[in-house]
Amino acid sequence: MFYLPLFHRLQGAQCLVVGAGQTALRKLRWLVRAGAQITVIAPQIDPEIQRMRDSGNLIIERREFYPEAVHAGLRLVISATNAPQVSESVFARALDERVLVNCVDRTELCTIIFPAIIDRLPILVAVSSMGQSPTLSRSVRGWIETRLPQGLGRLAELAGRLRLEVKQSLPDVDARKGYWDAVFSSPAATKAMRGSVDEAVSDAQRMLSQQRAGGEIVLVGAGPGDPDLITLRGLRAIQSADVLMYDKLIDPGLLEYARRDVELVDVGKQGPREEAGAKGWGSAVQQTSGERPSGTHMQAAINERLIEEALRGKKVVRLKGGDPFIFGRGGEELLAAAQQGFAVEIIPGITAGMAAASYAGIPLTHRHVSQSVRFLTGHRVADAQNLEWSDWARDDQTLVIYMALVSLETIQERLLAAGRSAATPAVLIENATLPPQREVFAPLAGLNQAVMKANITGPSIIIVGQAVDIAQQAQQLLMQHDAEDSTRAS
Ligand SMILES: C[S@@+](CC[C@H](N)C(=O)[O-])C[C@H]1O[C@@H](n2cnc3c(N)ncnc32)[C@H](O)[C@@H]1O
Repeated sequence: MFYLPLFHRLQGAQCLVVGAGQTALRKLRWLVRAGAQITVIAPQIDPEIQRMRDSGNLIIERREFYPEAVHAGLRLVISATNAPQVSESVFARALDERVLVNCVDRTELCTIIFPAIIDRLPILVAVSSMGQSPTLSRSVRGWIETRLPQGLGRLAELAGRLRLEVKQSLPDVDARKGYWDAVFSSPAATKAMRGSVDEAVSDAQRMLSQQRAGGEIVLVGAGPGDPDLITLRGLRAIQSADVLMYDKLIDPGLLEYARRDVELVDVGKQGPREEAGAKGWGSAVQQTSGERPSGTHMQAAINERLIEEALRGKKVVRLKGGDPFIFGRGGEELLAAAQQGFAVEIIPGITAGMAAASYAGIPLTHRHVSQSVRFLTGHRVADAQNLEWSDWARDDQTLVIYMALVSLETIQERLLAAGRSAATPAVLIENATLPPQREVFAPLAGLNQAVMKANITGPSIIIVGQAVDIAQQAQQLLMQHDAEDSTRAS
């Protein structure tokens, strides 16, 4: 059976509900919201329905159903009883009187069916399985729910407030469509959804008067590696990008979410390990081009391209590994864009250090063991002056060191020389969150040697501190449990 989805105006229309239990209550809430004039017939009344009557939302007839209650003056009748013969009688009578009818859980006794509803008023999403499986419809509703921002209704309010103004300013339909696409995926939309609708209206008006700058720049943190770890907002930005500029550690699966006509720009930079001449984890850039600039020049070229595309009115999404603002040069891109008058939207991502710790079972802070955590970069640590080694050597903190492979020997030596205990638990985590994730645990004094033996080739994070031991304690406890289980079983 095919049911055509329609949105029904019930304001002031007479509707009848037969039954007054919890099922009837769910339907009644929608009818009240739709402004219907409702009569309820039932011998027993749920207290909540009674309260609805007391607030003047409906009339109650406390009695058994009688056929004459269904008459041609009604727009809709709902049977929500668990007496099958009552529903059958309601249905027969409704057909005779040509009134729309829904008997709950009796698809064969319905001329209309209720969908599963996602409510972001004034946006309503209705999901139906054509009566085949209301449970599946509810599951689908759940899947969609998680993808729709809570503040979507406020976004509709923003659109409503500007509708006429935009229509007058942009008579061309395509131009209007382009404008709204740009607004809905701009920082103004984010502001509206967070509740600052007035501010969002001003931003959107500015965009309207600068149609040329329909262009925008979004910095998106793609997370540490596993594509499932990107945020929903980050994913939506990818979906709406005109130009997608991505780093080398980005999972190619994420690029699949982009529009078909998106312009993909690979801006993978050289990591410190490659710069040092070691056999690195390889970059898309290296594989596809031998002529790219690296380091500072490469960053300047990225900044220029971001702005160039935005000035052409494009939505440029800069997809960066981990979080854009943790050792990601996101700040430089933000400043370069601001210099040209572009407010950048920043969507955070899970940084590799936090993800590596979580996936390895290491709490970065732990009561009585580590009161603070420091994110450090090992990049060129060997040449750097004035590093606070004595600060880093304090025992009550966890160090999370990015890009540490090339300088691991120096880092280890200096931490020990500054007084960090040789026995401090430490670990290198390679390819965190990805299927080949590897962990090399060793006391600080032996970490470099253990890592050299392990032949690490992937991106890696080093964590140093007493909290690292928690992961190993947990492992041991689990192994003890397994051993006890197998002893009991044999
Ligand atoms: C230029 S930094 C970018 C960091 C990124 N912005 C973040 O927040 O995770 C690149 C370094 O991050 C670390 N890294 C990135 N992804 C990683 C992963 N999946 N596993 C381990 N380390 C990773 C490595 O130390 C790598 O050299």
